[in-house]
Amino acid sequence: MSDVTLDVNGETHTLDVDSSTPLLYVLRNDLGLRGPRFGCGLSQCGACTVLVDGVARRSCTLPVSRVDGEITTLEGLSGDGELHPVQQAWIDDQVPQCGYCQNGQILTAKALLDRNPNPTDEEIRQGMNGVLCRCMTYYRIQAAVRHAADAMAADASGSGPAREEVIR
Ligand code: FES
Ligand code: FES
Repeated sequence: MSDVTLDVNGETHTLDVDSSTPLLYVLRNDLGLRGPRFGCGLSQCGACTVLVDGVARRSCTLPVSRVDGEITTLEGLSGDGELHPVQQAWIDDQVPQCGYCQNGQILTAKALLDRNPNPTDEEIRQGMNGVLCRCMTYYRIQAAVRHAADAMAADASGSGPAREEVIR
């Protein structure tokens, strides 16, 4: 066991844990953050995704000692009581079915839009294709990412949101 310091959602935590422990276990079991989910445990499904310095990372296989940046979990995405535009789009488009994968979908979408604020549908599919959904919500995810991009662009320009018809 050793002391590991993590910056999570704007707070610093020092924990006495085995340095090889996957970040996912520390977030869920030690810090009580239930946003990241255990799916495959093999970096295959994306359910455990968190952001490390804004980059989507799979926390189920990331040793806690190798984390070298600010961690954002789903719990840290909203600020000052305001949902992030990606979260709002997910609600407006009623994306989830069972919901199990949606932590990974939302955080991956956030990272995608941060690096590409105006993706094409093909770029959305490519950017999201490593996050699996057994409920096949992929078309609603694609629509919600588009709507979140539009909302973020409208926020940036100071104009109101302009929503297209939602494709379900
Ligand atoms: S639980 Fe981490 S990728 Fe599946
Ligand atoms: S909503 Fe059920 S796994 Fe994606």
